[in-house]
Amino acid sequence: MKQQAHRHPSSESVTRSISVHGSRLHTGHSLFFFQSLRSLTVTASLFPSSRFLAAALSRPIDFTRARVIVELGMGTGAITRELLRRMQPGAVLYGVDINPAFITHVERKIRDSRFVPILGGAERLGSFLHQRGIRRADAIVSSLGLTSMGPDLRSHILEQAAEHLSRDGVLTQYQYLQVSAPGLPHFRERDFLREYFREVASERVIWNLPPANVYTCRL
Ligand SMILES: C[S@@+](CC[C@H](N)C(=O)[O-])C[C@H]1O[C@@H](n2cnc3c(N)ncnc32)[C@H](O)[C@@H]1O
Repeated sequence: MKQQAHRHPSSESVTRSISVHGSRLHTGHSLFFFQSLRSLTVTASLFPSSRFLAAALSRPIDFTRARVIVELGMGTGAITRELLRRMQPGAVLYGVDINPAFITHVERKIRDSRFVPILGGAERLGSFLHQRGIRRADAIVSSLGLTSMGPDLRSHILEQAAEHLSRDGVLTQYQYLQVSAPGLPHFRERDFLREYFREVASERVIWNLPPANVYTCRL
């Protein structure tokens, strides 16, 4: 499948363009906002996730047992930090993102030997794991904007995720609350996830911009 990474500017050009009067804005929020303005359909939000959303996505994971965790669409690391905070010392977190500016950011900002950032599309999850000798992840946390994705790409990603999740593992995914109005397209994420997972539970998180539903999926 074709990668979209080439649509993003290099991390150097991003750093240059967010320099203001010689001082560089290195906060995750400004980088995230800037990248969203360049490509809102790929970044899928104007702001990183809140700590409440990060907690809701992490809670369903059994961190006492999880050894391999994969994060899809890591962005500036809002959820990554929460996962690392909860993970055991011997566990590994693979953080996948298609945007090189976000990969450079987390490489600089998150210094943790359990964390492995991977530049590339989530649709290549299987090959990322196989290259590292891993068959299945114990948990997958996805922030991918499935709503704004093309149907073929999102189906391919979910096939990969379901195939590479351990049988007793868990996948968490969120979707921003949508406004329903006649004529507006409405993507039912829960129904879509049900095509791949036997059990899909949901929880609403209002303390996020925008508020979101978190789906917890089991095979
Ligand atoms: C809504 S943002 C979430 C960022 C971060 N996890 C957070 O919650 O603040 C979605 C992220 O998915 C990434 N992304 C979009 N399409 C992707 C794909 N096909 N494969 C991997 N990452 C992708 C974007 O670059 C962006 O960082």
